[in-house]
Amino acid sequence: MFSRIGVIGSGAMGRGIVQVFATSGCEVLLYDVRPEAVEQALSFNKDLLERQVAKGKLSPEQLAQTLARMQPAASLEALAGCDLLIEAIVENLEAKQGLFRQLEAIVAPSAVLATNTSSLSVTQIASGCQHPERVAGFHFFNPVPLMKIVEVVRGERTQVQVVERLCALAEAAGHFAAQTPDTPGFLVNHAGRAYGTEALRILGENIADFEQIDRILRDGPGFRMGPFELFDLTGLDISHGVMESIYAQFYGDPRYTPSYLAAQRVAAGLLGRKSDGQGFYRYVDGQQLRSPQPQRAHVSVDRSFWLDSQDAQVRGEVAALLGAGGAMLEEAAQPSANAICLITPLGEDASSVIARQGLPAERTLALDTFCDFSKRLVLMRQPALDPAFEAQAVQALGSNGVPVEVINDSPGFIIQRVVASVANLGAEIVQRGIATPATLDRAVMLALGYPRGPLAFAEFYGADKILAVLRGIQGCYEEPRYRPSPWLRRRVQLGLSLQTPDQPSAVQEQ
Ligand SMILES: NC(=O)c1ccc[n+]([C@@H]2O[C@H](COP(=O)([O-])OP(=O)(O)OC[C@H]3O[C@@H](n4cnc5c(N)ncnc54)[C@H](O)[C@@H]3O)[C@@H](O)[C@H]2O)c1
Repeated sequence: MFSRIGVIGSGAMGRGIVQVFATSGCEVLLYDVRPEAVEQALSFNKDLLERQVAKGKLSPEQLAQTLARMQPAASLEALAGCDLLIEAIVENLEAKQGLFRQLEAIVAPSAVLATNTSSLSVTQIASGCQHPERVAGFHFFNPVPLMKIVEVVRGERTQVQVVERLCALAEAAGHFAAQTPDTPGFLVNHAGRAYGTEALRILGENIADFEQIDRILRDGPGFRMGPFELFDLTGLDISHGVMESIYAQFYGDPRYTPSYLAAQRVAAGLLGRKSDGQGFYRYVDGQQLRSPQPQRAHVSVDRSFWLDSQDAQVRGEVAALLGAGGAMLEEAAQPSANAICLITPLGEDASSVIARQGLPAERTLALDTFCDFSKRLVLMRQPALDPAFEAQAVQALGSNGVPVEVINDSPGFIIQRVVASVANLGAEIVQRGIATPATLDRAVMLALGYPRGPLAFAEFYGADKILAVLRGIQGCYEEPRYRPSPWLRRRVQLGLSLQTPDQPSAVQEQ
């Protein structure tokens, strides 16, 4: 495979890369312009590995062998015998091009040059080299030993064998190798754009506050972190920078539009945990301060409820919730004269459904069927709703203790909007050949920690429903931001799984 690896740059990423490959049996040399950084990195790795010995995960012999495999390099010239060079230096095009030019004069013509860049074009970095065909992206995630994935990025001129050898090396070290061409954000940073930008859009339209959005996305689709706590963790300056960069690189495609809200908060220095605990949330001693779930005064329920859905499961669950609160679900096709009406739109806002169906606006609310009814319910009000009926609906549906959120009118609630945006972007990534369906879903789960991949999310809720949600949102806003990806639309139209690849050409090449 590779007999000796040189890593250049011994910061957070470089030291992690060294640890992963030394642990998997490779000889690794580490170089940095600051020799003390090499010392620090190697002693950091030694401490980590010793802790693994203490936990019984590594034997003392393995520790000694692994430590012997990671050695400092006093100069770039000392890397001459390496057949793979991985750079993890500062994120700057000129610096990376300059380093690769220097390395080309030192290493063998057959040596591979890999860059850990997260945002620069691999093709551009390679363009400064005499042999761009030996340059590839090798994009790890932080912390490298724990994040078991690396993007192997094929620049315009990268040789196929270079990609294959890097993939084999990564897999042998226990990392999933996600092959992807050199496109803005590669695979993972591209696929991760929808979650945060759609959440900011929802916040910007005053549909819900950021804590509601986080709570709803944690309890419904099961995201480990809401988008706003994720911004706080990553640093809003970093996240906003990535949003702006990818938006610009796709020439202003509205799918990727960043938010002025984020720009303003960055200007104000409200970056998240790192700015003295001030982000969307406040942090004291590293602990996030969350507002308590709002308590509502008890009201008596004197109305029956009517539900537009004919879905037996939804009807059963809603009837059970109402029954626990002593309220009744009407069975008739039309609501009685006094009933509180619950509608279950896909993609449309409540106002549109009320107008289309001629329902009584003062007593009609929408209920999101994408919620997990055992964890958190989401109701949507609209401008004509009488607050007394909102209070009765919250009381009746929440009487068994499941929290009920009420948000303002929005095409697609919160879960529908965010999940459909994530799934649609995933479908578009696959459509463009940036990843196979399987690679996309696995990479997103491993790198971003989503509970499902984008396509698996669509299939969990129903790809046809996701398509309906997108069409509904697109119809309400009349914006191309929500246009469904052809990948999604065609497979729904043909009744195929979203994993179904395009058919290869049947024409035999001569
Ligand atoms: N930190 C992350 O989460 C992350 C994730 C993925 C990719 N990356 C990318 O990995 C690279 C390194 O990131 P990091 O967070 O480890 O940075 P870092 O600042 O922690 O470390 C960079 C190291 O490179 C050294 N260095 C700078 N210029 C050099 C040169 N010309 N020659 C030799 N050494 C040089 C510095 O002295 C420093 O020790 C960047 O390209 C970054 O975009 C970072």
